[in-house]
Amino acid sequence: MEVRLAKTAGFCFGVKRAVETVYEQAQKRSDVKIYTYGPIIHNEEVVKDMRSKGVEVIYTQEELMQLQSGVVIIRSHGVAKEIYKTLEERGLSCVDATCPFVKKIHRIVEKESMEGKHIVIIGDESHPEVQGIKGWAENDVTVIKTVEDAQKFHVSSDVKVCVVSQTTFNYNKFKYLVEIISKKSYDISVLNTICSATKERQEEADQIARKVDAMIVIGDKHSSNTQKLFEICDKACNNTYYIQTLDDLNMNQLKSVKTVGITAGASTPKNIIEEVQNNVRINF
Ligand code: F3S
Repeated sequence: MEVRLAKTAGFCFGVKRAVETVYEQAQKRSDVKIYTYGPIIHNEEVVKDMRSKGVEVIYTQEELMQLQSGVVIIRSHGVAKEIYKTLEERGLSCVDATCPFVKKIHRIVEKESMEGKHIVIIGDESHPEVQGIKGWAENDVTVIKTVEDAQKFHVSSDVKVCVVSQTTFNYNKFKYLVEIISKKSYDISVLNTICSATKERQEEADQIARKVDAMIVIGDKHSSNTQKLFEICDKACNNTYYIQTLDDLNMNQLKSVKTVGITAGASTPKNIIEEVQNNVRINF
């Protein structure tokens, strides 16, 4: 049997960096309590493992304000400017694992809004990354996710508009929404801040899934990017399996196949991917 593992399977650069930061801190700073502001990734196994090493998750600014001491790690999604202020005021040390691509958006938003521009974020308002980006705007900010949002968007004609995007937003949809806003003839600057990691992962998964007899997608059930990956693979290969760990894989289903493809969501650790890959190889 031939096993084809996607090169883009698993952690992207920003997530890898954030996860490594947590483990590094847990090892180096045994003298203090370590917290992550929000779960570092959407993967129960990893969060559980981090907890066993003394790393706790805090979820809200209120919780943050109650901390007396400790190290707080900011995850790759980034946070609003005021969270840094709270950390400083509380005298907590901060280790910033915000992905540099997200950090770049924070800087753009801060600068452009200081110049008086109205910031438009193309993205999902409920996503923590967008919440963080919003929190760097000095003035008015609008989040646009749908065609209706774009059609409804209105500011005074003498206001300049600056458009950025959530890093994981779909490029074609971004282009389409920008087109709608551009037609309103505002003085508008558009910065495409979509990160290519998600797109590359999806394209590679699709290409592999089209050529194999069975496809395995590994990732947490709650991970939205893994769900999306599964949908893409399932469309291209009707023998696609969504598993969280090796335990979910029924080897009997792969008995009669000659080629198997493997990909994984952005929150799937390397060891889980390797375990699946090795077992599929050994068993056939
Ligand atoms: Fe960063 Fe792109 Fe990953 S923005 S966190 S490298 S998806």
